[in-house]
Parts: sequence; C-alpha cells; structure tokens
Amino acid sequence: MEVIILNDPEAVSALSARRIAQLVRAKPTAVLGLATGSTPLRLYKELIRLHQEEGLDFSEVTSFNLDEYIGLAADHAASYRYFMQENLFRHINIAPERTHVPSGLVAGPDIARYCAEYEEAIVRAGGIDLQILGIGSDGHIGFNEPSSSLASRTRIKTLTQRTREDNTPFFDNPDDVPHHVITMGVGTIMEAREIHLLAFGDKKADAIADAVEGPITANVPASVLQMHPTVRLFADEPAASKLARRDYYRWVYDNKPAWQAF
Ligand code: F6R
Repeated sequence: MEVIILNDPEAVSALSARRIAQLVRAKPTAVLGLATGSTPLRLYKELIRLHQEEGLDFSEVTSFNLDEYIGLAADHAASYRYFMQENLFRHINIAPERTHVPSGLVAGPDIARYCAEYEEAIVRAGGIDLQILGIGSDGHIGFNEPSSSLASRTRIKTLTQRTREDNTPFFDNPDDVPHHVITMGVGTIMEAREIHLLAFGDKKADAIADAVEGPITANVPASVLQMHPTVRLFADEPAASKLARRDYYRWVYDNKPAWQAF
C-alpha cells in the first residue's frame, strides 16, 4: 500500500484527482468506481475543475457507484444517486447512461437478481480501472460492515447503528436513516485494478491504523486492502495520526523518484 499523508485534505484530494486525470487521459474509456459521503467531495470538486478549466474529458468514461440506501428514490435528497448528480455528474460531461448507481427501489426477492446484474454490468464494462473508497469509522468500505465476508459480492446489507449515526447529518431526522443498503461486496471492490482509499479527520484515525497496520480481518473490512497490489491511501495528518510507521511512509513519499510521480 502506498501511504500518502499531507497536511491538507484539499492537497491530498487533488493528488488523487491528478492520478484519475492521468488514467482518463491515457484511457478515455476508463471505468471508475465511485463513492459518496463527505470524504470524496473535495476530490469531485477538483475533477470538476479539471474538466471545466483543463478540458478533462469524461465523455467515454463509465462509472459504477459502491452503494445506495434501500427505500430512497433517485430524487431523494439523501440518496446516493442524487448526491452523485449534484456533486459530480451534472458538472462534467459524463454520459448519463454510462453512470451506474444501484437502485434504492428494488425490493424483496428481486434484490438478489438485481445485484447479480450489477456485477454483470461491471464485467461487461471491462471491470473497474480505479475505485475510490472512503472508510467508515468502524472500518467499513462500501457498506460492508464489520463481519462482512471478505469474498462478498454486491448484495443487501444491514447498517450498524454506528454507521446510521455517522450518516444522520445527511438526513432531516436520525430515524430516517435507512437500515438497509445495496453495496458492492468486498470481493467486488478487490477486483478493481487500482484503489484510492481517502480518509480525513481524527474520527478515521483508528479505522485507518487498523486497516493499514492491523491484522487482516472481517472485523475491519478495509484491512483486506493489504492484499491488493495497487492501493493508495490519501490521508490528512489527523486521519494518519495513529499509524505507527507514519514517519517511514512520509519519507518514502518525500523521496519518491520523479518518474513515479503522477
Ligand atoms: C459511501 C461509502 C461509505 C463511505 C464511508 C465514509 O459510498 O461507501 O463507505 O465512504 O461511510 O463516509 P464519510 O465519507 O461520509 O465519512
């Protein structure tokens, strides 16, 4: 895992955006895996700036989002489809038909078939080239809560009370946070060719320390990223503050040869 720690969340988000821009310029048909929540907001702002000011072209890009709340329609202000429209899609030239966010309105026995189709669509698109991830304060990625199988595929999951509480700021009323979601599985995420894990703020420090330096365990689903060959962690100082080897990671990054830069 390449661990990149900078003082400022803007700067570290801009670095992730720069790597995404490099990928999209080299492969205009790139397939991006996208996340929602507060973490990727600065990254999406920078992608929008790169599109508007530097002509970064998303016209042939395909995207797949990690997850969606069950029960929320696309036009619900807290739905992840709405989040993506407002914070990224409507500001760039991505083709609407190439953006995929799981539907929150599939129900009952249809969910398993719908999830299998979501997986098939990822395969048909050629697989995910670069997956953006945030991390839950409990170590979840996507909405794969602690105890999720590390081989899991896209499916319905039940949120923990802690995750529901973490997500109350996006809802008018804490009781409105749904209990159920559709999420890509840990196994699905691990098939992405490159992964950017972003983490900001001291609320994420324990989860980051466990994920990067702790044992690989389903109790911290993000810890499985240690098994992936191309993961980059983009963290600010508070999120990285509990990493035992943070001085080493800083030295490696500060002394990175120019040919490896993006
Ligand atoms: C969102 C997602 C979640 C969030 C995580 C962190 O699509 O899959 O794993 O990345 O809950 O949320 P924030 O960024 O709001 O702290």
